[in-house]
Amino acid sequence: MPREPRLRRGKMSQDFDLVIRPARTSDAVLIHALIKSSLESSTVLNKEAKKDLARKFDLSALHDLLAKDDSIILVAVGANESINATVLMSIEGGMMHLSQLVVRENYRRQGIGSLFIREVLKIAKQLAVHRVTGYTRSNDIGAQVLASREGFAICGHCPNFWYLQDYVLWSRSV
Ligand SMILES: CC(C)(COP(=O)(O)OP(=O)(O)OC[C@H]1O[C@@H](n2cnc3c(N)ncnc32)[C@H](O)[C@@H]1OP(=O)(O)O)[C@@H](O)C(=O)NCCC(=O)NCCS
Repeated sequence: MPREPRLRRGKMSQDFDLVIRPARTSDAVLIHALIKSSLESSTVLNKEAKKDLARKFDLSALHDLLAKDDSIILVAVGANESINATVLMSIEGGMMHLSQLVVRENYRRQGIGSLFIREVLKIAKQLAVHRVTGYTRSNDIGAQVLASREGFAICGHCPNFWYLQDYVLWSRSV
């Protein structure tokens, strides 16, 4: 795993000191709380999708995930040990799929999402992954602008997809 990067200062009003590192089993409670609060405030997911994700990322599922070898969760940890962002990287067949890219609401638009994607790409390179993919909801403008700015291209439009929602599939080479 690469050296742990630090983001010392947000671009905007907030001052913070974050370290990005792979999650540990002991982070499960805080990751669970962050994902839960992001699901509760999400305006882009429907009720069924939220319910499914809440179940997929409950505490026991997170413990199992953290113990597995084919997935890595990255976290951004603040000075007070709070977890302010997560991304899940699942690797199979030389490809990495990203999901649960979540930045805590009051930390958004300060470059954390972009920094995460760049760390993911470094890790992908180290693991000899040749392509990274991810889905965004079609109405999730923020995630789409971020993906496009970080070099991802749309490789598929998926109408009526997961829980009848419209999705866009993104990918980029490493
Ligand atoms: C999408 C998300 C991860 C972005 O994280 P972030 O830390 O705010 O992203 P960054 O600060 O690195 O943003 C980089 C650029 O992406 C674009 N962007 C990010 N959020 C945006 C928004 N809400 N609206 C428009 N553009 C946005 C901007 O161009 C931004 O640069 P700028 O702030 O200089 O204009 C965050 O909004 C989030 O956690 N959302 C809820 C969960 C989610 O939707 N995850 C994606 C699922 S695939």
